[in-house]
Formats: sequence, structure tokens, C-alpha cells
Amino acid sequence: MPNIQLIATAAFGLEAVVVRELHRLGYTDTRVQAGRIAFSGDPAAICRTNLWLRAADRVLLELGRFHAADFDALFDQTRALPWHEWIPPNGRFPVRGRSIKSQLSSVPACQKTVKKAMVEHLRKAHRVAQLPETGPEFSVEVALLDNEATLTIDTSGLGLHKRGYRDRSAEAPLKETLAAGMIQLSVWNRERPLLDPFCGSGTIPIEAALIARNAAPGRNREFAAEEWLCLPARLWEAARREADELLDRTPLAPLLGSDRDAQVLGLARRHAEQAGVADAIRFEQRHFSDVRSPHEFGCLIANPPYGERLGGVDEVEALYRAMPDVFSRFPTWSFYVITALPGFERLVRRPADKRRKLYNGRIECTYYQFLGPPPARAGDREERPIVPAFAPPGK
Ligand SMILES: C[S@@+](CC[C@H](N)C(=O)[O-])C[C@H]1O[C@@H](n2cnc3c(N)ncnc32)[C@H](O)[C@@H]1O
Repeated sequence: MPNIQLIATAAFGLEAVVVRELHRLGYTDTRVQAGRIAFSGDPAAICRTNLWLRAADRVLLELGRFHAADFDALFDQTRALPWHEWIPPNGRFPVRGRSIKSQLSSVPACQKTVKKAMVEHLRKAHRVAQLPETGPEFSVEVALLDNEATLTIDTSGLGLHKRGYRDRSAEAPLKETLAAGMIQLSVWNRERPLLDPFCGSGTIPIEAALIARNAAPGRNREFAAEEWLCLPARLWEAARREADELLDRTPLAPLLGSDRDAQVLGLARRHAEQAGVADAIRFEQRHFSDVRSPHEFGCLIANPPYGERLGGVDEVEALYRAMPDVFSRFPTWSFYVITALPGFERLVRRPADKRRKLYNGRIECTYYQFLGPPPARAGDREERPIVPAFAPPGK
């Protein structure tokens, strides 16, 4: 099979992280649109990207892209695409759609047109009268944007945030893909300690441990395209073998999650166990005002309550006002906080070094980043002066 066109979808704000992940996997031919990163690869890329992408939502196979300002154009060009190369005579192919700024604005009518064109194509190409749709699923999407139709088949099945380790949900958990994106937007690496003082069900420390271990986040789950006969099983076996071989079990810096709620910490421990990283993380019951660390040059990455879903705004504002004093106990650390509460920088009395708009589900949030000093590199003769992100009170 020649090179294929693929699209990794991602939450707005995480596109650059997904591009970096694709480049690390060797897929460098990337083109970014809002929430979608197009790239090309061989069929094994379907297996490898589903297994390895941490911040992407799904991997779609792009069958075609064309101008379609009326239903005849949509029908004719859809019928001409090589659907039979992927979908067998018994394949199920539900069609979803969306339309933005396009003349073909009726999504149900677009879906119906695409389905009809696909049926005609598949019947003819497979030389069958009926398509029973009793076999594996090929979930098709017709996406219209500015009168350009993109036709894709979903290769992932369940969204990629479903890693297989979270079976019970705490209140307001962070999506695994967002947590992985936040960590990768930080300066943290496996040699630096990490603390999440509002860890809830443990998503941030668990995703950090998976990154530190170079563990493919999808290795404990299955994907829609694993049922596709057109993708030889040996491709999946090779991708899973590669993931096993690349696991890094060498020691890493301490990872800590704390929360005031003992019950939610039970969930965090359970999820860490199921993710295979329980030995890499310490979970402690601790009120935020009591957090401390003997370690240096770490990263504190947090998803505190915003007042929207947990806690009232007054309580949350008081919590945020206390942050500078708590953070000043960590003079060499960098701090990363995601919140939807407006006025965060006013409450912590310091402008962020960087901010980025990210979405936690449908909630528009800002990811505030306060950079501490970098650790000395091997070979540095003089110790560099330490400029804390948050100065101790009275300084
Ligand atoms: C938005 S949730 C974090 C969810 C977490 N990221 C996850 O994926 O499950 C906020 C957490 O902060 C905790 N929390 C709220 N106030 C706290 C405080 N003052 N000290 C410590 N934990 C607190 C809550 O118990 C809750 O688990």
C-alpha cells in the first residue's frame, strides 16, 4: 500500500504538542489546522500513532479531500474514492458529519449523500448486491469546512484518552490527553521531581510516570483498526513489540501527588496500579497549605478547583491567594496551573511567564506557566544565581 494520509485530532491549544510527538515518531510531514494535524505515513503509522500519541484525541485515515459546493459534487467525488481498499463487503460504516461555513449546511443530508455514494462504490467494487454491515467498524466522517469536504475513517475507536487505567471517575477529572499535553508543555523531564498538590484521581502524576518510563499510553487497550483485515496483524504485533522494547525502567526523579481527600487518593493509587506505574509515584493526603518538598528544580503542575465544578468562587479565590506563600517554599521550582477562573495572575500577584488557552472539556481555561531557574548542567563551572518564580514573603 502506498503512503497514506492521516489526521491526528487534538483539543484546541494542544496542536503543537501533537506535532512534536509525531516528529519524535518519525512523521515529519505535518500540516496543522485548528484541532487537526495532517501527516503522511505507511500503514504501520496507524498502529504506531494510535499506540504512542499522548495528547491527540484520535487518528483518522483521510480517504479524500475535495471541493463540494453541491450534493452532486459530494456524491460523485465520494463514490470515486477507493473505499473498497479498506472496507470489506461485511464492514459496518456509520457516517457522521459536520459542516462549518459551507453551502452544504444540512449535516443529515450530507451524511445521507455520503452513505449512498459509498454503498454504490462498495457494491460495485466488491461485486455484491448486499452490504450486510455485520463485520468490523469503519466509522466515517464527512467534514465540510469552507466548501471543502474531508472524508475520513476513524482508526482509534474509543478516544485516545481512554488509556485503560481509569475505570472509576473522581469529580472533575482531567482528561488524560490534556494532562499529557500540560506536562509536555512544561520544562519537566524524567530527571526532575514533579508534584501535583491537587492530584484528585492521579491523572497528572500517572501521565508523567508513563512519559518518564517511555511507556506507550495505548499499550493496554485496543483500537478500531485492529479488527481491520486490510491492516496485517503483524503490523500491530511489531508496533506492540516496539513499545515493549522501548520501555525505560531506569530510576527516575520522585513523582508526588497529594490531595486533601483520602477517598480520591484511593482512586489515584488504583489507577496508578492499573497503569503499571504505582512504584513510580507517591500519593499523600495533604492539604495544599502543608505541601513541601526536600527536592530541587522540580515542576509543580496542578489542576486546582476553578469554582465552576468544585468549590465556590470565594473558597477558590482564597486558595489561589495562598499560592504565592506556598510556592515560595520551592525556590528552585517551576509552576504550572490550569484554571478557568478569571484574574488568576491578580490573585497570585505575579504575571505568568507564559500562558496558553486550553480547553478542559468544554471549559475554556488558561494554562499559566511560571518558570524557575534551570538546573545546572554537567560542566557548568559556576553556580548560576537562583531567581525563584515566587519570592519568599517580605522579599
Ligand atoms: C479539579 S480536581 C483535580 C482533578 C485531577 N486532576 C484528576 O484528574 O482527577 C481538584 C482537586 O483538588 C482537591 N482540593 C481542593 N482543595 C484542596 C486543598 N485546599 N488542598 C488539597 N487538595 C484540595 C480536591 O479534593 C480535588 O481532588
